[in-house]
Amino acid sequence: ALEAETKAIVAKFDYTDDDVNKAVDEFLRQMAEGLGKDGTSLSQIPTYVTGVPNGTEKGLYMAVDLGGTNFRVCSIQLNGDSTFNLTYTKVAIPKKLMVAKTAEELFAFLAKQIELFLKTNHEEQFVAHIRRRMTVSSPDGFRDENVFRLGFTFSFPVQQIGINKGNLIRWTKGFDIPDAIGKDVCALLQIEIDKLHLPVKVAALVNDTVGTLMARSYTAPGKTGAVLGAIFGTGTNGAYVEKLANLKKPLLGEYDKSTGDMVINTEWGSFDNQLSVLPNTPWDMALDKTSVNPGIQMYEKRVSGMFLGEILRLVLLDLVKNPAVSFFRDDNSNSNDWKSTTTIAQNSGIYTPWGLDTAIMSVAASDNTPELSVLRQELESTLNIYSPAYDDAQAFKAIAGAVAHRAARLAAVAIAAIVLQTGKLTDPALADEPIDVGVDGSLVEHYPYFRDMIYETLRIIKGVGEEGAKRIRIGIAKDGSGVGAALIALVAANMEKNTT
Ligand code: BG6
Ligand code: GLC
Repeated sequence: ALEAETKAIVAKFDYTDDDVNKAVDEFLRQMAEGLGKDGTSLSQIPTYVTGVPNGTEKGLYMAVDLGGTNFRVCSIQLNGDSTFNLTYTKVAIPKKLMVAKTAEELFAFLAKQIELFLKTNHEEQFVAHIRRRMTVSSPDGFRDENVFRLGFTFSFPVQQIGINKGNLIRWTKGFDIPDAIGKDVCALLQIEIDKLHLPVKVAALVNDTVGTLMARSYTAPGKTGAVLGAIFGTGTNGAYVEKLANLKKPLLGEYDKSTGDMVINTEWGSFDNQLSVLPNTPWDMALDKTSVNPGIQMYEKRVSGMFLGEILRLVLLDLVKNPAVSFFRDDNSNSNDWKSTTTIAQNSGIYTPWGLDTAIMSVAASDNTPELSVLRQELESTLNIYSPAYDDAQAFKAIAGAVAHRAARLAAVAIAAIVLQTGKLTDPALADEPIDVGVDGSLVEHYPYFRDMIYETLRIIKGVGEEGAKRIRIGIAKDGSGVGAALIALVAANMEKNTT
């Protein structure tokens, strides 16, 4: 019975070649719509970044990175030869700050981390700045040599007004601080930095996908630079280089028109919130209902790390409750030794919303032992399922695999649509040149074969095909967004020089 039930569940996560191709068409349509006006499902946010680097950029910059799970502070020495040296610290963002009452609480915490980092890693510059403050009346200006330019990677949807100015549109990935909505997040950070008198100016505001795009172009410069930076981590999103001529909605701030391009932050996590092409199982619906943002980020809720574990948990919970399959429970056993009897503890994460960490899906996918012993051990240690039977582990592996496989196929939809939108596959001037895509995030980094599953899907997409898939080069841009933010801070510093 378990086997048949598992098969039926796995089938519900099928996303056929036909579904994939329809979704690509719809993605292209929603991209065009977002370039035309505000308030659409795909936000298509202009970033005011008008070019990608070529590897020769140099200098010492700072970057901070507020992702979904961690806050990173780093300083980056760009060496000008496609290499860089990075010093960084990382702290987990306290859960209570993700849902704080005021924005100030969160941003004060961020500024405090910057202070700690500077004291530990750049004491000289820090002390020099303090001395200068004591002797110069207006010390905090950009002209102070001891002031770090900081690129602020803020991985949430922001309406950008300029390179270091942007108002928060909405929170995603489990954050929920209504007080911050509509406010300029650079100003919120600068206020807290100034309260601590730190030698730091927030010079650039960067989405993590934009940072990833920049970093990939810096470290692997090709004929055209990377065309797409994408995150498949806690959340998912992509930024790409668009022709200014295609950007029909009015821009609010100044920008350099000479390149004819602008980087666009798609915020593809909200692709197809109306569910015209996205798959929708009962478990997807249940997840959405209990999330902090029902009805939005519908693509993200089917693709990214924060949600895959929860989808899986909801499926498993149904199985556990189904008396016909005895899943994770060995009711028929006569054994007196409970250790040899499969039991699921009352406090198992299976019973708790968000209680199943997506990481176990990677364990399941990579366990190729004949007995599935690695996975069975993991089920015991992380989910308190004692002596899980082989059949149960096999069902777990099959269902987890189906959820991840669907996610990878959906990931290919976004990547293909953007590559097609750039027209690079059919540009005769590029002949067989690789089309570079930089990716980062825990899912693509740790889930085995995620990239392989993306490639397998790219091959069946109309307009890409076998040949196109071969040219698309998906490479990890590790710690990409820190380096990318530094690069944009550099661009911003140059703009500043040109205008003062
Ligand atoms: C990191 C980047 O490497 O990956 C962050 O520096 C990004 O900017 C993150 O947000 C995404 O991965 P995850 O898994 O932490 O969401
Ligand atoms: C969420 C955010 C987006 C970010 C992505 C990856 O989708 O809205 O801005 O890029 O997560 O971290």
